[in-house]
Amino acid sequence: MSDPKHEIDTLVARLQAWQHDYYIKARPSATDAEYDRAFDRLLELEKAYPELRRPDSPSLRVGSDLSADLPEVDHTIPVLSLDKAYTAAEVADWAAKTEKNADARLNFVVEEKIDGASIVLYYEKGLLVRAVTRGNGTRGNDITANVRTIRSVPLRLPEAVNIAVRGEIYLPLERFAEINARQEVPFANPRNLAAGSLRRKKSSEVAAIPLEIFVYEGFFADDSAAEYRTHHDLLSYLQNLGFRVNPRLGLFGPDYGSGRFRAGELSFSAGPLEKVEGFLKRMNEERNSLGYEIDGLVIKVDELAPREELGYTGHHPRWALAFKFESPEAVSTVKAVEVQVGRTGRITPVARIEPVLIGGSTVSNVTLHNQQYIDALELGIGDQVAVSKRGDVIPAVERVVEKSEAAEPVWRMPEACPSCGEGLESHGAHLFCVNRRCPDQVRGRIVFFIGKDQMDIDNFGPETASFLIEKGLLTGIEDIYRFDPETLAGEAGFGEKKIALLKQGIEASKEQPYRRVLASLGIPDLGQKAAELLIEAGYRGIDALLKAADGKEEAALAEIHGIGEKTAASILMSLRDPELRKQIAALRQAGLNFEEEETEASSLPQIFSGQVWCVTGSFENYKPRGKAMEEVKLRGGRSVGAITGAVTHLLAGSGGGSKLAKAEKLGIEIVSEEEFLKLLGSE
Ligand code: IVH
Repeated sequence: MSDPKHEIDTLVARLQAWQHDYYIKARPSATDAEYDRAFDRLLELEKAYPELRRPDSPSLRVGSDLSADLPEVDHTIPVLSLDKAYTAAEVADWAAKTEKNADARLNFVVEEKIDGASIVLYYEKGLLVRAVTRGNGTRGNDITANVRTIRSVPLRLPEAVNIAVRGEIYLPLERFAEINARQEVPFANPRNLAAGSLRRKKSSEVAAIPLEIFVYEGFFADDSAAEYRTHHDLLSYLQNLGFRVNPRLGLFGPDYGSGRFRAGELSFSAGPLEKVEGFLKRMNEERNSLGYEIDGLVIKVDELAPREELGYTGHHPRWALAFKFESPEAVSTVKAVEVQVGRTGRITPVARIEPVLIGGSTVSNVTLHNQQYIDALELGIGDQVAVSKRGDVIPAVERVVEKSEAAEPVWRMPEACPSCGEGLESHGAHLFCVNRRCPDQVRGRIVFFIGKDQMDIDNFGPETASFLIEKGLLTGIEDIYRFDPETLAGEAGFGEKKIALLKQGIEASKEQPYRRVLASLGIPDLGQKAAELLIEAGYRGIDALLKAADGKEEAALAEIHGIGEKTAASILMSLRDPELRKQIAALRQAGLNFEEEETEASSLPQIFSGQVWCVTGSFENYKPRGKAMEEVKLRGGRSVGAITGAVTHLLAGSGGGSKLAKAEKLGIEIVSEEEFLKLLGSE
């Protein structure tokens, strides 16, 4: 074997470069498998030679199981806040006043004000030594172990500098929605979830949360700052050091057009000072399509020398100003709390409120999640509540503004299922109806099964399903393949054509691959991701899974990376349910796929290796469109459900909507069906 130190150094360098491409440049340069292989090898070596583990090892990113308190430490820079303005006119006044106080014409940078958790990263000789929360501005909590797990925080800089860097740690909205859906007591917004995660005691738990960072200020411990004349140059320098700098920047002022507004690779909108107002307006309009939350913009003097002259109050610098967006919050009254039964039997209380306009849309229903959530709010019927809606996030009750004296002070969940009347069982913080024949559950499962992301049965929507359930024709998903659509002849809305299409859609769905069928059954914890993991791990048909359920192979399932103990136990428990087994048998008899087809993945050229694809719209040759993504995966690519910075290609069919717009904005390569076929054909 080669020299372990040399091998560790090589692996660390390679992994760091890949991480940089993936997390900072959002352009992956290695496949997941290549990455995992190198990473596993590094862990192996570090285990064998603990003394050779480097302080900037990517393995530190996985966190530790050791419980840590969060000691308080002093900041070595003043961590100030910002003065606020709410209108463009106030911003213009402030800029004029600031120029007057500085006695100079000034340029201004406009940045997004990220709504996350404020952090100061301290680097000594280029090494991350401490990450500290803002705290009271002079003392904060040391959360270094947790921050190290964030991939876009560099552990070692390419230069041995002593520098403190301020930034904001945030959770992208899509990730927030995914994680919050699994949360026993959900968080009202991504900021709370990000901040809560950063304060976890076990950094290994933080590592599981895909937090991100944007940095926006740098403070040198020595005189190196003198090299930088402007804030935008400093940002560009921070970017070169490997930090994530938000590219959505504006630079405005008298130097526009003079050639001085140039900063390495950092690009930004620019113009004379008069253009600031329009920029503020545009940034406000675009805030809902960002993928993360901002609560305003920050206007900063670009020249660093006048900053010092302008100075500070105890609370904020005089060279910067926060332009706060109006907060999308409104006060309304709780008229009632109703209880919904989901397809898994989960009972969810929903507040019906007086309709109220928030952030451009009318809100009349707000989820209350569970009893614990309601208890924490101390919410009762008749109360006045503040309701918020940030970005694309679902509305949430922020707090009770005024209690009503009318009803019970805190609303309580019913003891029986509102749909079938059976008793409820609690699992964790949630209540469940465990009667699989409960009408609301049955309807939920059928609607889920036929849905676009599941079996994708054409011409079979929720209304048709409801109609058929009411008629007594559907009592479970297996009936979809048992009832005869012809019996609908004569019913309003069921002409000959509709019936033919319905039949066609149902027939076509029998071609769906096993992985889809499995994920469509509505088994708790067995979604598309889990189905794929199981299949890839060798459970290639339903029989293998049923056998695992009978043989109590929980431990074997839990071994699969990405499944874990809880999920394994839950899946196998469901698979032992005789009702579900009957259903599976019926679906199998109807001709659905319960076995994964053998693919010769390895024999296909891996032309999409390292690429991340997303799909939108509909296609001639790929129905459902998931089939196109299967082609991508067979050729070494990854496929994801939403447009994020990591996506490299968007396959766009006809009628692509918001994904297309978003991809265009992010400069993601857009591929038409024709081009895609050519790519496949060119093998
Ligand atoms: S500059 C002395 N820039 O907003 C520099 N702050 O209310 C002061 N924030 O605690 C901060 N994005 O956590 C600055 N682009 C940005 C920001 C930003 C978010 C947060 C930061 C600060 C708070 C001030």
